Amino acid sequence: MTRKIRFNAFDMNCVGHIQQGLWAHPRDRSHEFQQIAYWTDYARRLEAGLFDGIFLADVIGIYDVLGGSYAPAVRGAVQVPVNDPMMIVPAMAAVTQHLGFGVTANLTYEQPFLFARRMATLDHLTGGRIGWNIVTGYLDSAARAIGLAGQTAHDDRYDLADEYMEVLYKLLEGSWEDDAVVFDRDNHLYADPAKVHRIRHQGRQYNLDTVHLSAPSPQRTPVLYQAGSSPRGRAFAATHAECVFVNGQKKDGVREIVTDIRDRAMAKGRHMDDIKVFLGQTIVTGRTDQEARDKFEDYRRYVSTEAALVHAAASMGIDLARFDLDEPVETGKSQAITSNIKAMDRAAGPQWTKRKLIEQMVLGSRQPPLVAGVDTVVDTLVDWCETTGVDGFNLSRTVVPECFDDIIELVIPRLQERGLYKTAYDEGPLRQKLFGTPRLPARHIADTFRARAEAIG
Ligand SMILES: Cc1cc2nc3c(=O)[nH]c(=O)nc-3n(C[C@H](O)[C@H](O)[C@H](O)COP(=O)(O)O)c2cc1C
Repeated sequence: MTRKIRFNAFDMNCVGHIQQGLWAHPRDRSHEFQQIAYWTDYARRLEAGLFDGIFLADVIGIYDVLGGSYAPAVRGAVQVPVNDPMMIVPAMAAVTQHLGFGVTANLTYEQPFLFARRMATLDHLTGGRIGWNIVTGYLDSAARAIGLAGQTAHDDRYDLADEYMEVLYKLLEGSWEDDAVVFDRDNHLYADPAKVHRIRHQGRQYNLDTVHLSAPSPQRTPVLYQAGSSPRGRAFAATHAECVFVNGQKKDGVREIVTDIRDRAMAKGRHMDDIKVFLGQTIVTGRTDQEARDKFEDYRRYVSTEAALVHAAASMGIDLARFDLDEPVETGKSQAITSNIKAMDRAAGPQWTKRKLIEQMVLGSRQPPLVAGVDTVVDTLVDWCETTGVDGFNLSRTVVPECFDDIIELVIPRLQERGLYKTAYDEGPLRQKLFGTPRLPARHIADTFRARAEAIG
């Protein structure tokens, strides 16, 4: 393998993210998440260790699927309390120069006009290091919070997202020309109105007749991430995404998703390398296999099975409290994350039970930890990249910050010795670091909406 492997730290602006219960570990510092110093320290560590980015999940709504109650989510800090991920980005950007920021935002609850300005602001303030994880949500509790009876059906959410993206491209790519800002003090000419275009959009969900409020930022459109891998999710990714985030417990399943998304993208005129795929991974490591196993046994004592079930029930859209331990779980027509259900089917067969699920959640989620000494970890990661075609990993936090310190002190140097990890950052915005160019390429659908905005609508 010659490609360099990429790492993002995967976390959330909350206490309990993926591996539920580990916040109770005495060395875990995630309870400090409400302090700026926690995040600036986090960002400095990651950049010193040459992480590509920090990827921040976000979920709108409370987890109330298990037993129809939010009490267990609150008790176990299952992604609640959770603060806005965008707010912590400028603080982290101020103490770093290269670290990328992948921020999740649910477009269902964000007006595109306002959201485009927030993204542009973040792109300016970070010097072009912002990425957006495009999600459409999976919780009825979120829909109820804004006055709807329930969420939009699964595939319809992607239709909405396609239209949303069109509006966003018009605003971010089509309103201001690159040289619109003149900053000519002598002539009192800040920006040239001839180069700032009105954009129009009349669609099923959105109607706009306006001018984007922000001047062009280094990347204009943030680096686009997306994580749904149902058939409709893959079609969406093939059109829009630059980075795809997949979860998967078996290599053949992951390889199938990676190949399919790249094939679909190429059928739309994009290049194979236009899409980077990151695999969700939890690593517990040490100098030796024994050291890693001891650490895992220590962490494991803090896992909360109840909290893990709260998260699993909500993400799959199934009230697992309705099933006995050995009764096959009826997955029905879920409107939540269908790729999570598929992953469970692949791992345990379609007749899986709650007991099987609990057996899989060894560290507080269905993401199985890789527990091994550094040499085995490196061999395993390389093998994943070679056999599935993924480009890197979104590394789920376990006990922070030591879980990332272990990667930085043990894993990255070993990868570097093998020429499989960078030894310095490339210059430029996040997209340039990932794809060699700061702006979306001309073959991306966004190009259709560039600076010809007056003519569209
Ligand atoms: C690995 C992974 C991470 C995700 N992270 C988030 C998240 O942070 N917030 C969110 O609202 N949805 C998240 N989702 C949900 C997806 O964005 C998408 O809405 C969902 O997977 C439904 O699409 P699918 O059935 O096509 O997979 C995630 C999904 C996956 C597979």
